[in-house]
Amino acid sequence: MESALTLIEAELKNVELQFRKDLESGVDLIRSVGEYILSSGGKRIRPALLLLSARLCGYEGNRHISLASVIEFIHTATLLHDDVVDDASLRRGIVSANKLWGNQASVLVGDYLFSKSFSIMVEDGDLDILRAVSGATTRIAEGEVLQLTSMSDLDMTEERYIDVVKSKTAVLLATACQAGAILGKASPAREEALHDFGMDLGTAFQLIDDTLDYVSSEEQFGKSIGHDLKEGKVTLPLIHTLRQCSASERRVIADVLLCDTLEDEDFRTVISLVRSYGGIDYTLETARNYVSRGKSRLALFPESPGKEALLSLADYVVTRSH
Ligand code: IPE
Ligand code: IPE
Ligand code: MG
Ligand code: MG
Repeated sequence: MESALTLIEAELKNVELQFRKDLESGVDLIRSVGEYILSSGGKRIRPALLLLSARLCGYEGNRHISLASVIEFIHTATLLHDDVVDDASLRRGIVSANKLWGNQASVLVGDYLFSKSFSIMVEDGDLDILRAVSGATTRIAEGEVLQLTSMSDLDMTEERYIDVVKSKTAVLLATACQAGAILGKASPAREEALHDFGMDLGTAFQLIDDTLDYVSSEEQFGKSIGHDLKEGKVTLPLIHTLRQCSASERRVIADVLLCDTLEDEDFRTVISLVRSYGGIDYTLETARNYVSRGKSRLALFPESPGKEALLSLADYVVTRSH
């Protein structure tokens, strides 16, 4: 991923400066929580996608910096809320904000980041970008609610799971790419291609996240392992396993999913079922298919360093370990 990012290194630095500036508020708690999470080292994939898409579409102004900052603000807001909903205790390798400041502070600072994002976009004044981003945040909320209503559902289908994944995660990556295209005044076909590229990439991104939740380590991943299972989240590795396992194995999985705590031994039992039914391989393969479809959508752009960087970012998504 590093090589993809060298191209936009200076711009990414400006994005960091920008969102520190955007975080300035008279309220101490907003600055503390905001600084804490924004300084904890996210991968900045979404701003990178916006910057590279803008470059690919020939954009030459300065608005891409504040809009990339907005996209990271929105991502940060969703993380603050998501960690409350998921009762997470680790984020980016450190204690999550909800555990340090409590759920109330996380929800309210998340709200602040959302509102601030929209104020900045209104100042920017591009109705097409506002339309795209507000559509995205609406759909993210739908995705999180849909996921909530699917908790511990052993009959969760792959189709519904993909629907959740697209809404809660992929839409924001798609919108980051689309915003870059809008900035560069790309043709409707190119805007659509970049949007769909982001959607495929974002879907693969979440599939890998859900795989890492089973097979990574806390040090690598920076988040708790087995957390999805503990919370009752039925993700693709498990869906694929449930499709094939025996009735008694299904009961074992159901007991673990429905239990509030997750003992190491229970996790080992489920992960070995997931592995033996090919749940990990199947999910990785599905993610690779999304990435290759996504990459092919960029065929209508001529070769350029920006395009190369987007393609290698796409490859990074399926090889990442955190
Ligand atoms: C985490 O996103 C939430 C998911 C969509 C899986 P990232 O993995 O991009 O989080 P950071 O910003 O790099 O920490
Ligand atoms: C991420 O879903 C979706 C959003 C942040 C909206 P997860 O719940 O899988 O993300 P992590 O694993 O907590 O980062
Ligand atoms: Mg979560
Ligand atoms: Mg996760």
